[in-house]
Amino acid sequence: MADKSKFIEYIDETLGKSKETALSHLFFTYQGIPYPVTMCTSETFQALDNFEARSDDIVLASYPKCGSNWILHIVSELIFAVSKKKYDYPEFPVLECGDSEKYQRMKQFPSPRILATHLHYDKLPGSIFKNKAKILVIFRNPKDVAVSFFHFHNDVPNIPSYGSWDEFFRQFMKGQVSWGSYFDFAINWNMHLDDENVKLILYEDLKENLAAGIKQIADFFGFSLTGEQIQTISAQSTFQAMQAKSQETHGAVGPFLFRKGEIGDWKNLFSETQSREMEEKFKEYLAGTSLGARLKYESHCQP
Ligand code: A3P
Repeated sequence: MADKSKFIEYIDETLGKSKETALSHLFFTYQGIPYPVTMCTSETFQALDNFEARSDDIVLASYPKCGSNWILHIVSELIFAVSKKKYDYPEFPVLECGDSEKYQRMKQFPSPRILATHLHYDKLPGSIFKNKAKILVIFRNPKDVAVSFFHFHNDVPNIPSYGSWDEFFRQFMKGQVSWGSYFDFAINWNMHLDDENVKLILYEDLKENLAAGIKQIADFFGFSLTGEQIQTISAQSTFQAMQAKSQETHGAVGPFLFRKGEIGDWKNLFSETQSREMEEKFKEYLAGTSLGARLKYESHCQP
């Protein structure tokens, strides 16, 4: 894996700030969306408006806990396979996180730059569209996302915890969590999934056939790899392989971030009432939409 010292440094710094932040003070709202004060600032958001994207930037867009670290790893391995150069993380890769000077520093970084983001479609800087950067959007079923999000808060020692799963579930359904509502994020992206330069990939599909998913990602970004290279990356990108190296790649948060990596862990926490509530919300927002169909709610979320 690439030298992630800057990546880990940023994570450690964020954990340090989180330790001193109570849950009641964790969020600030910017243009209607709650963000964690430990990772985002309004100065950085203002600076982001002037961020200059490149046509060969690799944008990875996802709601939190949909598998962004998985895709980041796959894409950096693809870059390594074609260029033989380790993808060096010169900054924490989430575009909207960090200090407001980061976009100045990023001007010096060689192409291709990987820009991960949890921003809703309408909050992305316009230059991404103007300069036609390719955007891979990663989705995961909302029940496993909620459970993964809850565990992230409650398992990582320094991140503010919720009193209970039920309390987290209520906030998640209201969109009062970092980066706002899963459902707002989903309807916002749903309208753009067939746009030029946009491709959707599902966590569950990747889990069911990793090599096929990696091939699709490689094709989308125009990386030409042999079947053998795809198989090698696939073996290095399983949950077990990534979990084994998580301390090395992600520092203290690693073992908590690579927690279980399964489809259907929601069954361990959702009550029947919560399942019904989630289904109603899913129907309200996503019934009849292209994303709604592609998420395969019946397969992944029905008891
Ligand atoms: P769980 O908490 O359900 O285990 P993100 O990177 O967007 O924060 O998402 C984290 C989730 O992706 C975690 O889910 C994590 O285990 C899962 N994940 C990370 N790498 C994975 C892999 N190689 N295979 C399957 N799941 C993976």
